[in-house]
Amino acid sequence: MKNKTIYILAIESSCDDTSAAVLSNKKKLSNVVATQKIHEEYGGVVPELASRAHQQNIVPVVHQALSKANIDKKQLSAIAFTRGPGLMGSLLVGTSFAKSLAMGLSIPLIEVNHMQAHILAHFIEENEMNPPPFPFLALTISGGHTQIVLVEDFFKMEILGETLDDAVGEAFDKSAKILGLPYPGGPLVDKYAQLGNPKAFPFTKPRVDGLNFSFSGLKTGILYFIQRETKKNPDFIKENLNDICASIQYTIIEILMDKLKKAIKQTGVKHIAIGGGVSANSGIRKALLETENMYRWKTYIPKFEYCTDNAAMIGIVGYLKYISSDFSEQDVTAKARYTIGA
Ligand code: KG4
Ligand code: ZN
Repeated sequence: MKNKTIYILAIESSCDDTSAAVLSNKKKLSNVVATQKIHEEYGGVVPELASRAHQQNIVPVVHQALSKANIDKKQLSAIAFTRGPGLMGSLLVGTSFAKSLAMGLSIPLIEVNHMQAHILAHFIEENEMNPPPFPFLALTISGGHTQIVLVEDFFKMEILGETLDDAVGEAFDKSAKILGLPYPGGPLVDKYAQLGNPKAFPFTKPRVDGLNFSFSGLKTGILYFIQRETKKNPDFIKENLNDICASIQYTIIEILMDKLKKAIKQTGVKHIAIGGGVSANSGIRKALLETENMYRWKTYIPKFEYCTDNAAMIGIVGYLKYISSDFSEQDVTAKARYTIGA
């Protein structure tokens, strides 16, 4: 098996992106993502609509991934799929598809934990990517997740802290919604924040023990602040948008950086790997680079394509499991709640 090229077809359908990828060992040959636009008008992901869209997208997306990779399904070594965590209806589409295809082709089936995949995305082999050495701390920040994980080996991970309520991406998106910005508002908050004063409006940071996070109080604080100010001046948002966005972003970054510093102090681990859609945020990138110089940490940020939900990250986990013959049975079921290490 040592010299044989392994071809993995990977499928991701945990939330609102239908994605399929083909990997040749650790290298990506294709990574197709169909983002569901339908949720924009609702200001957030509607689970029922997401599963219906996955059903429509899955066949063409898989087909496209295979043809872009120039691989015939008969060449595939295994099918990897996201077992969880995620929305049950969405997961069922990918899980059922993967099971049927693996059975039809008589090749192994490999279940993947989506959160492990966000972390192991750093190990996809690509020129400009540099994988972190073990042990490292992973900060996974997206619309669905906020976690600090101690990673001692590919499959030896321990969650040190996570959000008790909203994910950090939700904090961005919900704040944006309060300001009347369209969904998903995170990138817009980032854009306006770059033109504003981060200290213009102080927002209260939550007090949460240990390395856990909470963002729901911040959202309520922002809502009350905006209601109060717009009562006095109906044009308050319009006149202060840049400063409001900068202040919100500043507070969110402070919350993340405080916990990250605490995790580094607690573990002594100074290699930090970031993942998830929020790692695109310019303020977070800047804060990480500044502290990198100040504290001698080293940060690792994968290509943006591998930060947001995508199947290539499922494929790399599939490959790592394949080489240790860690396969799933045909009776494997989707798991909406599925913690790392469970
Ligand atoms: O990983 P992702 O594509 O999907 C999941 O949620 O799993 O992350 C999407 C989240 C959204 O909440 C979006 O607003 C946020 O990432 N996001 C950003 C930025 N780009 C994307 N948040 C802040 N600043 C950004 N530049
Ligand atoms: Zn995700």
